[in-house]
Amino acid sequence: MKGIILAGGAGSRLYPITISVSKQLLPVYDKPMIYYPLSVLMLAGIREILFITTPHDQAAFQKLLGDGSHVGCNFQYTIQEEPNGLAEAFTIGEEFIGNDKVALVLGDNIFYGNGFGSLLRSKVDVDGASVFAYPVRDPERYGVVEFDEDQKVKSIEEKPKIPKSKYAIPGLYFYDNKVVEYAKQVEPSARGEKEISTINQMYLEAGNLEVGVMTRGMSWFDTGTVESLDDATEFIRVLQNRQSTMIGCIEEVALVHKFITKVDFEKAIDRYGKSKYGEYLKNLQNES
Ligand code: DAU
Repeated sequence: MKGIILAGGAGSRLYPITISVSKQLLPVYDKPMIYYPLSVLMLAGIREILFITTPHDQAAFQKLLGDGSHVGCNFQYTIQEEPNGLAEAFTIGEEFIGNDKVALVLGDNIFYGNGFGSLLRSKVDVDGASVFAYPVRDPERYGVVEFDEDQKVKSIEEKPKIPKSKYAIPGLYFYDNKVVEYAKQVEPSARGEKEISTINQMYLEAGNLEVGVMTRGMSWFDTGTVESLDDATEFIRVLQNRQSTMIGCIEEVALVHKFITKVDFEKAIDRYGKSKYGEYLKNLQNES
């Protein structure tokens, strides 16, 4: 399975912060936001990853993440000219995807939870589509999934004014190769975007959509507003300092999942110097 990280968009809900800086490069506590969704794909065992950014932000992402070899991955970069919607990820990424299955994660989504790694690894051989549902207080901000009495998916709607349930669909999606053809058929919605929810509706109509409810043990943040960005930062700070383990540490994931050797790890962590992130990695190196 290949992976795509969608890290474009205007980020206008965070203005003036994101006028000159990409939202997905903003700090979430001690590391750039993009580290979190990247670590999610890596945890799933995905090593071929395409970053889709705006034309003007691409160089900054390349400077930060390079070709991925330092974490045992292959990173590629491409641009989305205009923020025309999430579904474009699969038409822009068509060549990269080739004949493979593909996971999409949004560059501003953060996940954390017990057993999350094995949950992710159970999705990489998906037939059809596999997405998640997460209960929230403000479902109208998201893609919303409605279930019937037998817990079967009844409908999917993007940002409904009157949501039919409290279940939002987080920005992490697993698809088989049909997604490329489906994406080509998506027409812009009333707000002018090619919606990922339209793709999910197509899979639903074809009887090929699986929705797994994320339980209490899972935390999910979409950092699209100042409040939610601040919440995510606070969450990561409290949890990391309490547990003395790091969330979203890509070098650690690469080492633990044997994408790289200890020697590669030593080289990879050199760049972080005396930062808190660097100190954590040095401790890890000494412990292993
Ligand atoms: O966070 C989960 C939600 O993400 C889902 O529940 C919704 O179904 C989905 O449409 C999306 O809603 P948002 O309103 O949060 O999407 P937003 O415009 O904030 O974009 C999400 C990420 O994708 C963000 O990192 C910017 C990036 N993006 C967005 C658009 C529209 C792109 O790279 N290109 C785009 O064209």
